[in-house]
Amino acid sequence: MRGDGGVALHARGRAAARRLRVRLNGTWRGIDAAPSARLSEVLREDLDAEGVKVGCDAGDCGACTVLVDDLPVCACMVPAGRMEGCRVETVEGLARDGRIGRLQAAFLRAGAAQCGICTPGMLMAAEALLRRDPSPDRASVEEALAGVLCRCTGYSKIVEAVQAVAAQPRAPVQADAGAAVGARLDRLDGVPKLRGEERFGADGWPAGTLLVRAVRSPHPHARFAFGDIAAWRAAHPEIRAVLTAADIPGRNLNGVIPNLADQPVFAEDVARFRGEAVAAVVGPREIVGALDLDDFPVSWEPRDPLLDVVAARAAGAPAVHPGRPGNLLIEGRVTRGDPDTALAGAAAIVEGDFSTGFIEHAYIEPEAGFARRVGDRIEVHACTQAPHMDRDDLAAIMGLAPEDVRIVPTGIGGGFGSKLDLSLQPFIALAAWVTGEPAGMVYTRPESMMTTTKRHPSRIHARIGADAEGRLVGMTFEGQFNTGAYASWGPTVANRVPVHASGPYGVPAYDARAAAIHTHCPPSGAFRGFGVPQAAIAQETLFDALADALGLDRLDFRIRNALGVGMPTVTGQSFAQGVGIGACFEALRPHWERLRAEAAVFNAAGRTLRRGVGVAGMWYGCGNTSLPNPSTIRVGLGADGTLTLHQGATDIGQGSNTVITQICADALGLPVAAFRLVGPDTDLTPDAGKTSASRQTFVSGAAAERAGRALRETLLRRLNAGPEARLTLEDGVLRAGEGRLDLREMGAEANAFGYVFMAEETFDPPTTPLDENGQGEPYAAYGWGAHLAVIEVDTELGTVKVRKLVAAHDVGRAINPTLLEGQIEGGSAQGLGLALMEEYLPGRTENLHDYLIPTIGDVPEVESILIEDPDAHGPFGAKGIGEQVLIPTAPAILNALRDATGIAIRDLPATPDRIHAALRGLSPRTAS
Ligand code: FES
Ligand code: FES
Repeated sequence: MRGDGGVALHARGRAAARRLRVRLNGTWRGIDAAPSARLSEVLREDLDAEGVKVGCDAGDCGACTVLVDDLPVCACMVPAGRMEGCRVETVEGLARDGRIGRLQAAFLRAGAAQCGICTPGMLMAAEALLRRDPSPDRASVEEALAGVLCRCTGYSKIVEAVQAVAAQPRAPVQADAGAAVGARLDRLDGVPKLRGEERFGADGWPAGTLLVRAVRSPHPHARFAFGDIAAWRAAHPEIRAVLTAADIPGRNLNGVIPNLADQPVFAEDVARFRGEAVAAVVGPREIVGALDLDDFPVSWEPRDPLLDVVAARAAGAPAVHPGRPGNLLIEGRVTRGDPDTALAGAAAIVEGDFSTGFIEHAYIEPEAGFARRVGDRIEVHACTQAPHMDRDDLAAIMGLAPEDVRIVPTGIGGGFGSKLDLSLQPFIALAAWVTGEPAGMVYTRPESMMTTTKRHPSRIHARIGADAEGRLVGMTFEGQFNTGAYASWGPTVANRVPVHASGPYGVPAYDARAAAIHTHCPPSGAFRGFGVPQAAIAQETLFDALADALGLDRLDFRIRNALGVGMPTVTGQSFAQGVGIGACFEALRPHWERLRAEAAVFNAAGRTLRRGVGVAGMWYGCGNTSLPNPSTIRVGLGADGTLTLHQGATDIGQGSNTVITQICADALGLPVAAFRLVGPDTDLTPDAGKTSASRQTFVSGAAAERAGRALRETLLRRLNAGPEARLTLEDGVLRAGEGRLDLREMGAEANAFGYVFMAEETFDPPTTPLDENGQGEPYAAYGWGAHLAVIEVDTELGTVKVRKLVAAHDVGRAINPTLLEGQIEGGSAQGLGLALMEEYLPGRTENLHDYLIPTIGDVPEVESILIEDPDAHGPFGAKGIGEQVLIPTAPAILNALRDATGIAIRDLPATPDRIHAALRGLSPRTAS
């Protein structure tokens, strides 16, 4: 199976190189390149313009956008030969005299770059627009940027930034000591993203790095056998290594949950999903890139695959894994009271069946990285959300001690959960180990989509009842989640869903079960919400039906049942503070009333277009479910006066580099500008856990707060100053009150880390195990939120246009409002995709042409409302936000669809054909 045609194309092109001259960023450059080579590859590999990013090599994502004679083009689709004599401009040309330009500054100020992988392409498309129209309106910006996809931002801040260029640029916010928390500081890691200097997984490889390509199963389920690999290798003498399971020095297994690790690095005898690797080939880039792997000696014996949970659970279905009867990986349950009796006495009951499909993360950066052997250690530079987990898993695969594996995360061009799992790291580590030379890999877009984890497809049945006053009396919920071929995060989904399926409401009698079921599909894993978004779709859309059945306003019904201080959740946990869901709904009330009234007027005109307004709530436990979840942060002062924060939380665009520094700065009492950041590196930063489950602000932030306070205490004691004293650090001299310390004279006191003063603190949120009924305290804190959606439905075509989203979130304390808004806008865009357009079909939608994600034209204005109901454990009261923001968007949109048309789509996505069929009464799985 061929997966990386882009590499091959360039390699073929090199064979017929000829001299080209292009004027790159104002300087004439001559290069030898094949006329047919992609311009993107020539720019990156021959002209050192690695600011040009490659997300698809197919003209779908726009990440590679450059200007050719002032016009934006996708450099991956342009043959280099056509550039002879042309002016080519890349992001590297936007900065002048080492300073970022006005457009880049506007992006930085607005928070328009999150992970930053789309940013160079966005900037170039925007630059082209601004040259011809210095004051564009929103429609012009949307049109000009329509060809560049962003998976992180939701586009609003990008539009804001482009329009801000014409106005007087806003000065950057400066926060004095003690005033960082709450300030709209620019991202501390923003400038390299805007200059195209951030090194992502495919960037900055050592010269001569060998290329690794995987041989993958073309079948979802097959037995296989290798032929004469030695003979094949003899026919390809430049190949440096062929790797199979037999070459793995440690265990041929990996998995994010150690006691359930079940995924082989290389399959042995049987492939359990399409795209599973069985071997890898290593060699010089131009040789391996040009190989036709279809002639690799492997023979396949396809078997019938199980492609959904119904087939997998059917009597007599073959076992995907021996020892997991019924293909059941795991089941989670939360039960409280007697829901059947409660429902029997309800004034109204609603119930329904729901289904959702695979959702692809579709980050713009496919997996990439390189590894090198350093003596008897291995170093892996790749995109990841979980460096310490990677280290431990890789150590087991390589048969090394964990301290002999160093993980150095590169820039991460979006993750959203999927880059928590190992992907190419074992291949490149093994290749570098065996050959002794650096070895790298870049997944092609189809390879990324085919082989990495997805959001779990779900099949859900739920039943909910309320009394005549509109108070919930009981709920049952049963969910089956297609966890694919391997465990990945299936257990997390199965355990988290029953806790959350009630939504943020008081439900006195409750029984919820969730099962993770194996199939011959790609592994399902973590994706913003761990199954909670699927559950919320069922619960929140049934709530509208229930409110209607009782004749109650849909928002009032939610407020009446919303959890509050002292009210038990479905696991029996209650909180003495920090339950902000009621405040979120109340914040929406004026918008609800106004927008509903406007929709009524709009619809009274009797047009084909119908407008609807929908609302939905959510809650989400921050961090692991009833499991240890620690983060450790180190901060130190050196004898040269440098204040260094060892911040090991990977920043995948969400802003942890900035937010955690803001927290530490205020806890310590020095300004953010005084800090030097050391980012994630398992040799240099203590373990701050994985970037997932909305835990970095809450957990790592709390560790940073503790570290900052501990260092402050030490310094004040040494300075003989009181707890309220103002601390200063200038030219290596610390002062507080009357106290003065010249750090430059204290070098002899430095510890093993080189610090004169240091603090290292750990925070592990207090939780308790769930008992056999799922009762306990699974999380120390929840985040809360509610979204309101306004949509217009074309009742002739079945198309939906989302006009507006209003999103209220209780964040505890808004550490950086700009970054929070960015999370809300980006998560909402992903929720919109979940509701209306996204469905990954294995073998069919393995590219960004067939798999649709929201473009700039699909995402409406998002009005964010930040509620601050502080949490007792969170740093300065802050709670998590990353997962929360996606959860209520899809049900709010679906409720708006029902409000507009009377139809309830329960098999997602609600594509125009499904809506069209439902409007004509043709769909069996809809309900009014
Ligand atoms: S990399 Fe060129 S359009 Fe995606
Ligand atoms: S910031 Fe646009 S894809 Fe990440």
